[in-house]
Amino acid sequence: MDIPRNVKIVIVVLLCAILGLACSADGTSTGPKESTENYSVSPTPTPTPIPTPTSTPVDSKQVAPQFVAGPSGLGDSYFPNLGNGGYDVERYIIEVQWDPEEKWLSGSTVIEAKSTENLSSFNVDFAPMQISEVTVNGVRADFTAEENEVVVIPSEGILSGTDFNARFVYEGSPSLFCWDTNCSLLGGWYNLEEGAFVAGEPSSSLAWHPVNDHPRDRAQFRIEMTLPSNLDFVTNGVFLSKTQNGEVSTWVYETVHPRAPYLTTLAIGEFEEVIAPSVDDLPIRHWIEEGIVRENLAYLDYDKMVSVLTDLFGPYPFDTYGVLVLNHQLGFALETQTLSLFGRDTFEIESIHIHELAHQWFGNHLTVESWSEIWLNEGFATYSEALYYQAIYPEFDIYQYLIAGFGGRESQLLGGIPPGDPGPESLFSASVYYRGALTLHALRLTIGDEAFFTSLREYADQFGGTNVSTDDFIQLVEKISGEALGDFFDRWLLGPVLPEMPS
Ligand code: TRP
Ligand code: ZN
Repeated sequence: MDIPRNVKIVIVVLLCAILGLACSADGTSTGPKESTENYSVSPTPTPTPIPTPTSTPVDSKQVAPQFVAGPSGLGDSYFPNLGNGGYDVERYIIEVQWDPEEKWLSGSTVIEAKSTENLSSFNVDFAPMQISEVTVNGVRADFTAEENEVVVIPSEGILSGTDFNARFVYEGSPSLFCWDTNCSLLGGWYNLEEGAFVAGEPSSSLAWHPVNDHPRDRAQFRIEMTLPSNLDFVTNGVFLSKTQNGEVSTWVYETVHPRAPYLTTLAIGEFEEVIAPSVDDLPIRHWIEEGIVRENLAYLDYDKMVSVLTDLFGPYPFDTYGVLVLNHQLGFALETQTLSLFGRDTFEIESIHIHELAHQWFGNHLTVESWSEIWLNEGFATYSEALYYQAIYPEFDIYQYLIAGFGGRESQLLGGIPPGDPGPESLFSASVYYRGALTLHALRLTIGDEAFFTSLREYADQFGGTNVSTDDFIQLVEKISGEALGDFFDRWLLGPVLPEMPS
């Protein structure tokens, strides 16, 4: 049996090599972090304040409502500046133009949102581009731009619970950002010799449009891109139209299923749309960059992948799927919603296709509450690879597969990073992926197949469309299995060593 080895461990190394950056070698070298939380004692690994609406006093004396400045972050313990408090975005309407010669982006973004506090001002996350105008509900607003944050001061306060919109007009040269001190987490707008693309986790969106950039605020998107007619534009969601107007063309895409902003990708270049046979009613459309051999898609059995994962987790959560394949050595793939992004390298590896598809459930439909919960994405997607191979080859040795991906038991026995709280520098370490997946395998051996697979399906069903924490998962599994599992998850997710696999 020929199962390709997983390449995710080299993601950071390759990225850094490609971009010529001085990065830490493997993202796994920071050593174990002292875990301050304990699942059995403290029910919430990373408490994050959820903004509570301030009620507006309405009494006979007509007390004037108090307005506050919306917080500049959402309290994510790993990335305190990502996201903003005080409002919830419902839809982004992005209308931009791209000049490939000057590598210059210009246009506007409208944020349609609902306030959750009485706001005297609010923040958006946004790269340092030149903003020429901000309006709130059509009225000019003051604003100040700081590093990756714009503070908007509307001409009058916004009462809690109100629908409002904010429009930003801007231009600039979008770029890449480092999300941790080592720059092992890189994301944003990548310029290629010809063309460009957007990718990054925990963030990339703020590189090109104003955004509430945290998975806790998902929204719909409408994206309109105008660019020279010799170039194509691809992004997530459903393609609506392409209109040519002289030398330039405008492409429109729309996404109605709410999406966490980091799950937006886009690509500019020359692409071919490949319409594959639908799986049940699910349209499968790939976008392949020129130079990628179309026949190489033939090895991918999306029919099989979608049906195996659907049997395991329940219905595919969105309205379309496909892969976007760039003709570049990316060293990574990313589960961008409904359109996973691959390079010509990662595209060749079947297990990564399964992995990114599985993220459409675990990561995209169920989104982490805080970035410290990343194993709920990566551990589940990695375990899904093993479940897929087991469905196809009943003799498949899941333990061997995962322990090999982990780098061998010996090398990780001491000093493994706790996947339940890896720290921002080790967000995508092998431990998060493979010890996370081994945790699920150990859980399965502990509670038995029936309770385990019921739990997976219930978890996807109950928490789909919401943000999840490890405690949500533990409570659900405890209910279904009837077992107390706090100690089990403590040892597997937070303990300093990899526990013994139950037999
Ligand atoms: N989530 C991606 C995966 O598991 C890997 C990844 C992590 C990534 N950080 C990234 C990809 C930044 C692109 C950019 O497939
Ligand atoms: Zn992943």
